[in-house]
Amino acid sequence: MLQVIPGEDYFPRTTGKGGYIHFTRMKDWTEGFFPGSLWYLYEHSDSERWKQLAIQWTEKLEPLKNLTDHHDIGFMMYCSFGNAYRLTKNPEYRDILIQSARSLITRFNDTAGVIESWNQRKAWDGAMWYYPVIIDNMMNLELLYFAYKETGDTIFRDVANTHAEVTAREHIRDDYSSYHVVNYDEATGDVLHKQTCQGFADNSTWARGQAWGIYGFTMAYRETGRADFLEIAKNMADFFISHPNLPDDGIPLWDFNVDQPGYQPDWDYSPESFIQTPRDASAAAITASALLELSQYVDDGEKYFKFAERQLQSLSSPEYRANVGENNNFLLKHSVGSFPHQAEIDVPLVYADYYYLEALKRLAEMTDS
Ligand code: GLY
Repeated sequence: MLQVIPGEDYFPRTTGKGGYIHFTRMKDWTEGFFPGSLWYLYEHSDSERWKQLAIQWTEKLEPLKNLTDHHDIGFMMYCSFGNAYRLTKNPEYRDILIQSARSLITRFNDTAGVIESWNQRKAWDGAMWYYPVIIDNMMNLELLYFAYKETGDTIFRDVANTHAEVTAREHIRDDYSSYHVVNYDEATGDVLHKQTCQGFADNSTWARGQAWGIYGFTMAYRETGRADFLEIAKNMADFFISHPNLPDDGIPLWDFNVDQPGYQPDWDYSPESFIQTPRDASAAAITASALLELSQYVDDGEKYFKFAERQLQSLSSPEYRANVGENNNFLLKHSVGSFPHQAEIDVPLVYADYYYLEALKRLAEMTDS
């Protein structure tokens, strides 16, 4: 991978149309995952070479600490500098993370009690968004809990807790499936719509969204010890692992409700163009990592551990794990970025690799005695 990167600020993301590797340039949400993967490779190998590369690729992201354009600063900075600080204790990385957390909380609205995800006001299908918040945003709270622990400033903890409470109330349905987007009125805090952007239908469950929720609420429990967050994480996990549409290998379809009665897409869906509904390996990798952590917090953790192990066995099989030198040098095949946008369907994704490496590390730590 490193040999094919064309320049300093090109961050690998996926395979683009035409089969070539597609890069982003610090303007998207995924730039933290490649440096983060280098940190996990360093941990897996204990090799100085990976450490030096991880430092080099992490430090390129330093200017992003002031980014306030979207919520993804949590993904970008915590996966890169968060791992960097965890493994080096370099105080400069700590300061960068704290500044990043300050940038993230500028997007918090007291009335709605949530951090705004996107500035975009017009949805891709023409619908209006006023103050959109996506389930993915749970992941960005880890940066805030870090800043609270490091500074003692309760604003970071309070924003994270409030965001998680409101997400639990508005994004999570009674059966513990999840909406992708909740659109608020920023003046009153009222919920205007509950929708999807990357899922099949507004009332469906987008597989990666459910994965972000399981991971996010498990992490929120770790950081707060709050039983209500653990309850959400467990029930969201149960929804995922016992869903009737989940294939036996534990790798979900890109949305749990594709083609199911009662779920109507409001975008131009042509099922005939696919022989089989694509799977999303990224959702499986995120879920596996989350379930390994969750399994340590509950009495019946064995079922989550076993399920995560099964997912990792599937992801490590030739069906999902690419041969060395193939798949544009990404580790995993068969992920989906956004099906409704016809973008990144059945391709590798850098964040699938990141959470796969994280899950393998967690598994190794839990099984090495
Ligand atoms: N956070 C964006 C995505 O999961 O596609």
